[in-house]
Amino acid sequence: MKIAIIGTGNIGGNLTRRLTKLGHDVSIANSRGPHTLTDLAEETGAKPLEVTEVAHGAELVIVTIPQKNIPDLPDGILDQTAPGAAIIDTGNYYPRQRDGLIAEIEGGLPESRWVEQFLKHPVNKAFNGISAVNLL
Ligand SMILES: NC(=O)c1ccc[n+]([C@@H]2O[C@H](COP(=O)([O-])OP(=O)(O)OC[C@H]3O[C@@H](n4cnc5c(N)ncnc54)[C@H](OP(=O)(O)O)[C@@H]3O)[C@@H](O)[C@H]2O)c1
Repeated sequence: MKIAIIGTGNIGGNLTRRLTKLGHDVSIANSRGPHTLTDLAEETGAKPLEVTEVAHGAELVIVTIPQKNIPDLPDGILDQTAPGAAIIDTGNYYPRQRDGLIAEIEGGLPESRWVEQFLKHPVNKAFNGISAVNLL
């Protein structure tokens, strides 16, 4: 399967390791550009791309970045996914430790519904209830 992973930290890095080992065609992106992903690319065989391009043609896109950074993702990053692509959001909202208060979520909007507003695509929440170390 052609898989794009946006965010290559604890969760995104280990999903890259796991999914490449299973034989999937994995592309990866972070906020700083593909030149910062050479180590993970060499280790796993995943293809580093700009975040604006990583989801092109992907059948599955995994968005795994801090909740507070979701609004920073470029507009239209999912516009050229494969038809019927599934989008996974691994995020957990940490209002005190990391993300600050997000008014709409505080008002009762489920986290993934908030994420969908920025991605302009329905998302499924997954991998958010497991520690990154257990994904290997
Ligand atoms: N760690 C866990 O065990 C765990 C478990 C369940 C759920 N989660 C949730 O999963 C999400 C990811 O957690 P994590 O621990 O993997 O985070 P992390 O280690 O802090 O990694 C965050 C990643 O997101 C990238 N990123 C940030 N802003 C970006 C942007 N605007 N565009 C593209 N990439 C961007 C970062 O790239 P740069 O470094 O280039 O900025 C980095 O690769 C969070 O919502 C977290 O709460 C984590």
